[in-house]
Amino acid sequence: MDVWEAIRKRRSIRKFKSDLIPDEKIRMLIESARLAPSGTNTQPWRFIVVKDEKTKKNLQEAAHNQAYIRRAPVIIICCADLSAFNEFSVRVEELIESGALSARTRDIFIPYLKKGMKTVTRKDLITAAATNVSIAVEHIVLRAVELGLGTCWVRWYDDNKVKEILEIPEFVEVMALLPLGIPDEDPDPRPRLSLDKLVYREKYGESYIQEHN
Ligand SMILES: Cc1cc2nc3c(=O)[nH]c(=O)nc-3n(C[C@H](O)[C@H](O)[C@H](O)COP(=O)(O)O)c2cc1C
Repeated sequence: MDVWEAIRKRRSIRKFKSDLIPDEKIRMLIESARLAPSGTNTQPWRFIVVKDEKTKKNLQEAAHNQAYIRRAPVIIICCADLSAFNEFSVRVEELIESGALSARTRDIFIPYLKKGMKTVTRKDLITAAATNVSIAVEHIVLRAVELGLGTCWVRWYDDNKVKEILEIPEFVEVMALLPLGIPDEDPDPRPRLSLDKLVYREKYGESYIQEHN
């Protein structure tokens, strides 16, 4: 399966077979997340793999009782470690070492980031983390399609309850719950906006597609 096929085949799956998912497959999924890109290579994603029935039940309750959540054999809790942003100078050094960034970056970018970190708010860090972690989560979602597995992004939950259930420390934020299992449904594609509503030519508002035709 190529990437385009995985993108086309993916659906949010809310019905799962009861089959257990081997740890090796879960490892393959997390490995796909590990390779995701992130700003300054921060890699703030962290994952908790939940299989325990009682924990799944509690997570379902924290997610406003969305019924399919506990029926998934596995739930991957996708988190952001906000303290990862304190390590940016180490990450920049690694990038310089690997040849991805020039040595000049050390003098220009590191002071810039250090200055920014003095005034950065938790909200700013969460916004940055959300972008990075979302890419990693979607890597999992697409690789799951390739492995014959289904997932559903879940963001509708009570953050504090999820954090309490999983003993997540203060400097970590929950970004998504990802129920995972073998699909027990094969839904048609869900509706999408047409391209002419999404793409503009040169400035916001002028339809790219119409001008093209
Ligand atoms: C960030 C995000 C949050 C979502 N949260 C939920 C959720 O809490 N519960 C749910 O049932 N589906 C959730 N979904 C799934 C969407 O409803 C779904 O992606 C959308 O309806 C399109 O359907 P499709 O994914 O099958 O193409 C979420 C999706 C995303 C990307």
